[in-house]
Amino acid sequence: MSDSDFISGLPKAELHLHVEGSLEPEQMFAFARRNRISIPFPNVEALRAAYSFNSLQDFLDIYYQGADVLRTEEDFRDLALAYFERAHEDGVAHAEIFFDPQTHTARGLPFGVAADGLLAGMKEAEAKFGLTSKLILCFLRHLDEDDAFLTFADAEPWLDRIAGVGLDSSEVGHPPSKFARVFEAAGKAGLKRVAHAGEEGPPEYVLEALDVLHIDRLDHGNRSLESPELVTRLARAGMTLTVCPLSNHKLCVVDDLAAHPIADMLGHGLRPTINSDDPAYFGGYVADNYRAVAPLLTRDQLATLARNSFLGSFLDDAAVTRHI
Ligand code: HPA
Ligand code: ZN
Repeated sequence: MSDSDFISGLPKAELHLHVEGSLEPEQMFAFARRNRISIPFPNVEALRAAYSFNSLQDFLDIYYQGADVLRTEEDFRDLALAYFERAHEDGVAHAEIFFDPQTHTARGLPFGVAADGLLAGMKEAEAKFGLTSKLILCFLRHLDEDDAFLTFADAEPWLDRIAGVGLDSSEVGHPPSKFARVFEAAGKAGLKRVAHAGEEGPPEYVLEALDVLHIDRLDHGNRSLESPELVTRLARAGMTLTVCPLSNHKLCVVDDLAAHPIADMLGHGLRPTINSDDPAYFGGYVADNYRAVAPLLTRDQLATLARNSFLGSFLDDAAVTRHI
């Protein structure tokens, strides 16, 4: 069996996926047409050609602009369902997806347009593909904590259908401690807590995510490797890292995929998983991300990464056991 078939056949969970980042250029044009809005690119090819980034911020500028075509519950439902269909082809049995409500409420959409649309897509994916999912509300860290609190208040009627909160957007200059109080409130409401840290930000941001935000899972975490003490701590805690190889390469977090630190992470006793982050922008879905690092790994290690994805999920123990 080829590596590629082996990877597709591994049952896996996806734990780091921004649903707005699964908006394919073709779909962007289709939604723009449906909603009678124009996009500042003449065609799909020109849009795709703009997907060349030197940093996280370069990407975020175009990613937030792209999300403007999402206007209705149906758009969000269609977006989610298209992602789940593609993920199902890659052997994804369970996905925990992020959404950025502030990107949409800032444009005047009520919180429920995104939330209800995504929840409808999630329900349909389970019925159609047997693919289960959970929804994680991400706060935009370039905005202030008061704005995050307003979003958390908006989310109140949906909290029984939201598994956790996360933290994303521009990392450097916006440390996790900026969101200490809203993460505390989310914890008190019984939500799981995750945060992007150590993607561009230093190991100290990972420490803050652990000590101040009390995270249940670490998104990216690459720069943890710069601190041996932090690596030991993450390994001892059994902390899951949601690593995104193609994203790391496209956003210049790693210079070369052949030098991706995934094997080092495993070697240090960490618990990494493989994920696609923003597949429409970074050139591949989850199996493509496994393939991108497969030359660095044995098949046993690839299987460990897939197993880690269930162990690090927010599924209950019985469901995890069914999957692994
Ligand atoms: N990092 C931070 N924010 C994001 C990302 C990311 O990789 N993708 C979408 N929002
Ligand atoms: Zn991300």
